[in-house]
Amino acid sequence: MDVDLGLENTYIKHTALTYIDGNLGILRYRGYDINEVVNKLSFMETAYLMIYGEIPDYKELETFKSYVSDGILPERIFSMIDTFPNGDPLSMASSVFASLAIDNTMKWSANENKKNAGKIIGLSFNIFANIYLHIKGKDMHNIDLKDPVRALLKVTNKNNEKNAKALEAAMILYMDHEIPASTTAALVTASTLSDMLSSLSSAMNALKGPLHGGAAENAFLEFIDIGSPENVRPWFEEHIIKNKERLIGFGHRVYRTYDPRIKKFRELSLLLCDERNKRILDTALELEKVALDYFKEKRIYPNTDFFSGLLFNELGFEHWFFTSLFALSRVTGILAHIIEYNENEQRLIRPRAIYNGINERFIEK
Ligand code: CMC
Repeated sequence: MDVDLGLENTYIKHTALTYIDGNLGILRYRGYDINEVVNKLSFMETAYLMIYGEIPDYKELETFKSYVSDGILPERIFSMIDTFPNGDPLSMASSVFASLAIDNTMKWSANENKKNAGKIIGLSFNIFANIYLHIKGKDMHNIDLKDPVRALLKVTNKNNEKNAKALEAAMILYMDHEIPASTTAALVTASTLSDMLSSLSSAMNALKGPLHGGAAENAFLEFIDIGSPENVRPWFEEHIIKNKERLIGFGHRVYRTYDPRIKKFRELSLLLCDERNKRILDTALELEKVALDYFKEKRIYPNTDFFSGLLFNELGFEHWFFTSLFALSRVTGILAHIIEYNENEQRLIRPRAIYNGINERFIEK
């Protein structure tokens, strides 16, 4: 018997949500290719698809939107956020999800789970929008949940049709990715029959780590650090080849080829890039070229976080909020996974550890 470090070869659930073929670079939501989903469906339609399994008709979508609109934050949450010192937005989000769970009103119930998930999606938009407003020192308020993606863009004053479509696409691309660390953390919590809000609180703490959700911010800071396309080669030789540092935004536990979401992220980053940010984009494109060449034998490719930060920057969000945008997008996927697990194959997740400490000894007293 041996341990399966990183649980790389352990399957903990069945899923009808997301299919990934890491060798061929395929990602499907409920059977639909990710690129088809992102080009043809809205954020709300995709969220419905993930939670209910089918693309909604008009009436179904309207009902789902009404659940999302119920995600109004109570006054006490604004007071709570107001006490947070400036710092990690994901830790703030985790605290708010935990606080919303205090009254224990969202118990598991097959009749209510999906409706509650809709409400929690609405709550999540309000949570992250208000964490952003708090950090920026602006007035907090419940945002308009009839169209939460556009309402979120209002906080950066960059709400126009082109930007809204781009943010919506990014949020669809990030919506689910099978069971990475954050979704697994949520599953572990949900498997104890702890509620959905508490499960999201666990997920936020796992997602903030630099090996997971933190990569979009760090990749963007990497481009800033390099500074210009001319600096890419010397920087790469010094940091990646000589010092053996990890190139952020490259590599993936599952993909051994191009991540299929990259195509859309790159397309949107190019589309939205304005003159002020052209130098950062050109630096990223040159770094991608140099790194692809260097890593080709190891089959290490860019991941979504290589490009998403460029896009979020164009949408007016500061780098410290990039992980939050990823987390907010992922809330829907996490909810869909914990509902699927608890409704279909609920079992307490309780793995074992192989003891390798001192055999037996006695206290001499
Ligand atoms: N830069 C340099 N070398 C790398 C990188 C990288 N980004 N990624 C993997 N390698 C090398 C690694 O050093 C190892 O080499 P060797 O066999 O010579 O020791 C080999 O590739 C295999 O690496 P691994 O650690 O077994 O790969 P993993 O599946 O555990 O790592 C990863 C996946 C995402 C943690 C890693 O690629 C990494 O650290 N990337 C940088 C951080 C990053 O961009 N994270 C975002 C991940 S995707 C979004 C998400 O899941 O949230």
